[in-house]
Amino acid sequence: MIDAISFENGTLGYLDQRFLPLKEEYVKTVSHREAIEAIKTLAVRGAPLIGVAAGYTVILGLNSYSGSKEDFPAYFNRLIADVEASRPTAVNLFFATARMKEIFERRFESSSLEELFRDMREAARKIHDNEIENCENMARLGVELIREDLAETLETRKLTVLTHCNTGTLATGGSGTALGVIKQAWREGLIEKVITAESRPLLQGLRLTAWELEKENIPFFSISDSSSAFLMQKGMIDFGIVGADRIAANGDTANKIGTCAHAISAYHHNLPFYIAAPVSTIDITIGDGTEIPIEERDADELRTIFGTRVATPTTPVINYAFDVTPGTFIRGIVTDKKAVVGNYEEELKKLFC
Ligand code: MRU
Repeated sequence: MIDAISFENGTLGYLDQRFLPLKEEYVKTVSHREAIEAIKTLAVRGAPLIGVAAGYTVILGLNSYSGSKEDFPAYFNRLIADVEASRPTAVNLFFATARMKEIFERRFESSSLEELFRDMREAARKIHDNEIENCENMARLGVELIREDLAETLETRKLTVLTHCNTGTLATGGSGTALGVIKQAWREGLIEKVITAESRPLLQGLRLTAWELEKENIPFFSISDSSSAFLMQKGMIDFGIVGADRIAANGDTANKIGTCAHAISAYHHNLPFYIAAPVSTIDITIGDGTEIPIEERDADELRTIFGTRVATPTTPVINYAFDVTPGTFIRGIVTDKKAVVGNYEEELKKLFC
């Protein structure tokens, strides 16, 4: 069992993902500042897990408050702003803070601080529980879709699937989004092999997805990000499935940088390319992908590989952490409520009714 995140007796515990698979270090903290740092540095990462961590981080912040009720609103607003400033793209983080703000607005006047904190604690726990349940639903719906879409191939052989970044237990706390679907499809005998694209520069595919698959004894191999088109050309990939950090109302999807290139290649080779993400990753307030804020990270993430410098410190670098795949290249979006195939503009809206 991988324990990506826990919250017991006012202490946040998490597996520090920066060192995996070489070192399994479980960190415990009661400090919301340390928790924010863990999100910023990707010690805790993956859109759903960032949302879960954000909820618990707010609770840590509340636990260290010793002031009066009168002074609390200013403290709370600063706390929320600090959590929200940690990473900009994964909408799950803002979903978690919005939940806390909503409780604050509804309950502050009429409740004691203890009551308010208790409600927020319950909300944070619920965000976590929901993500675990969401993964189970996505796995079921995703496998149904794959069975249907790839029925012809499945009559003759099992499938090889490409995935990017890490979307498993490490990214969600549950079985995973895209990787949850893959694990379930493998258990049901649909998958022969998984291909994990390395996901430069922080190598979540090579380090983390590979680590999870090894633990589950699921056959896989890793490739460099730039290999996917060639493997598709050679008939070595049947379909792709990845997660998402934010999905716009028209289906445009932000995910780990490199995703868009795989999706375009899949489209060119007439291979299905799916997204698996809970409804909490859909930002229905934005029309299309151009409005998704894309995080730019430190240039040294690219100029170094795990602390070893591979380019001069003055090499100019652009280091976007995510890209946006237009909905037109996406065969289907598997959510926890429904697998939506095409017509995103109409269908995604309905998930919020
Ligand atoms: O920068 P990261 O590692 O947080 O990026 C993670 C991804 O891009 C994942 O694919 C996405 O969050 C979905 S996780 C279920």
